[in-house]
Amino acid sequence: MCSDHDFLNKRQNKKLDNAIQRMIQRHGVDRKTVDEVFDKSTLFSIEKLISNRIIDYIDFPISTGKEGNVFLAMTPEKKPVALKIYRISTATFKHMTQYILGDPRFQSFHRSKRDIVFAWTAKEFKNLELLHLNQIPSPTPIKKINNVLVMEFIGSHRQPAPLLKDVEIPNPPLVFDQIINYMKTMFAKANLIHSDLSPFNILYHNNTPILIDLGQAVLKNHPQATEFLYRDIHTIQKYFKRYKIDTRSTEALFQQITSKNKEEST
Ligand SMILES: Nc1ncnc2c1ncn2[C@@H]1O[C@H](COP(=O)(O)OP(=O)(O)OP(=O)(O)O)[C@@H](O)[C@H]1O
Ligand SMILES: [Mg+2]
Repeated sequence: MCSDHDFLNKRQNKKLDNAIQRMIQRHGVDRKTVDEVFDKSTLFSIEKLISNRIIDYIDFPISTGKEGNVFLAMTPEKKPVALKIYRISTATFKHMTQYILGDPRFQSFHRSKRDIVFAWTAKEFKNLELLHLNQIPSPTPIKKINNVLVMEFIGSHRQPAPLLKDVEIPNPPLVFDQIINYMKTMFAKANLIHSDLSPFNILYHNNTPILIDLGQAVLKNHPQATEFLYRDIHTIQKYFKRYKIDTRSTEALFQQITSKNKEEST
């Protein structure tokens, strides 16, 4: 039986073959990862990105996460972009469903694993668009095909920006306020709650925190919106405590972000 990756070799598409092979050879990406990530339909999506000249080739893997893999890809104009591929084979179906159900933007899909992953990718893309529209620092979305999302690469010289958790923040009170203000603008203008906000999902680039990983972000009318917002605030507060700064109370921050107290919003 031939795996999807053999199928890649058998296809006469030299461009697609080169686009992935050179990364595998140069960066020693193991066979299991390749087979898990680059299934047949993902290869078709990448082929489309190449023929539409959105990307030219995949350069190297940046990260292997719970649900997706992020790669640095190069455009035909030699500009780096981030390529996020949600794995269909290892998708955590139950986790994803919780954040998709209750979102009126994603009501009409069948509930196969593949459909959920495609809806999740579309959700991350739309959420990034909303952030972009409201000028909240985050990667600009470029294109989405099925489970593959292309977005602005955040970093310098093909080196991804560090995560907030790996940075010694030079001015913690300022960065804390910036993040709370992002949450406020997100809530008031984009109607969104990140829902997995933590120093693992914030990049720090040019002295600016940049929000990433928007797949699970929900609209503020989601049934668990209040719970998610409270959790996000609490996670950020807890993290900044290490800098011994005044992180105020969760309730006060909740009011600042929503202009309501918790009781009023449940
Ligand atoms: N636009 C981007 N530019 C540069 N690096 C990025 C970009 N998006 C994601 N990354 C890198 O890829 C990693 C994983 O991205 P993200 O958090 O969106 O995916 P994930 O599937 O949730 O992964 P995890 O399970 O590790 O959280 C990030 O921690 C970051 O290092
Ligand atoms: Mg993440």
